[in-house]
Amino acid sequence: MNTEVGKVYLVGAGPGNPELMTLKALRILEKAEVILYDALLDSSFLEYFPSSSIVHYVGKRAGQHSATQEEIQDLIIRYSLQGKTVVRLKGGDPFVFGRGGEELLTLRKHKIPYEIIPGVSALSAGSSGAGFPLTHRGLSRQVLIMDGHTVLQEDTDWKWFAEFKGTIALFMGTSSIVQISKKLLDNGASSLLPVALVENASLKNQKTTVTSLGKIIEEGLSKQSSGPGIIYIGPVVHLIGENPELDIQGFASQGEEL
Ligand SMILES: C[S@@+](CC[C@H](N)C(=O)[O-])C[C@H]1O[C@@H](n2cnc3c(N)ncnc32)[C@H](O)[C@@H]1O
Repeated sequence: MNTEVGKVYLVGAGPGNPELMTLKALRILEKAEVILYDALLDSSFLEYFPSSSIVHYVGKRAGQHSATQEEIQDLIIRYSLQGKTVVRLKGGDPFVFGRGGEELLTLRKHKIPYEIIPGVSALSAGSSGAGFPLTHRGLSRQVLIMDGHTVLQEDTDWKWFAEFKGTIALFMGTSSIVQISKKLLDNGASSLLPVALVENASLKNQKTTVTSLGKIIEEGLSKQSSGPGIIYIGPVVHLIGENPELDIQGFASQGEEL
């Protein structure tokens, strides 16, 4: 019996289209003995799992029991202590709202050898897919990533967010966007500030909806699919349009210092 501790790889699978997985992720998957994977959106990922590997689905899917973070970490440790090469395959990048940090700390605590393989995050897949940059000279020099689940529960400095000159990328925010828009407007953000919702980034059914903070208060902003959605708030969203120069001038003339 192999009593050596097996190496654990925390691997970013990218935003859902297997074509956006890195070569390194693919090579590591080929030698995996155990794979623990999240909801990966495109089932063709399963083709890349070796047929000999032990596979556990540990993601969240509506109406089904999903493993708790503690159960996932216990499984990783248990298989590693059996000497197996373990791949923890996670959506997007493991260290962007993926609880990869908790898995990393557990591995360190148990002195298990590990490697982190970054993945293409929805952060960049959404903006690339929709066709606007996250930063753009004269429009946005900074990007803020925000968790829409907790931002309304915490002691958030909304004035600071409302005055933020850059691009806000809101993960897990489709159900709280109306409240978030209201908080931003109440704290001085422009009602003309454009907003884009990108659903199913990188997949065939990707869809982009463009609106503004003001319109969201009047009309809401609903997803058109059951897939994940990422929301961008900031002037870079104007660059989606056919004639972005006009939109940018219109926005800048509202007195925004860009
Ligand atoms: C738990 S977070 C995981 C983020 C992931 N680690 C990453 O780097 O993209 C899940 C959220 O990411 C966003 N997301 C993930 N994949 C997406 C996709 N293909 N299209 C749009 N948003 C996505 C959504 O906001 C979703 O609620």
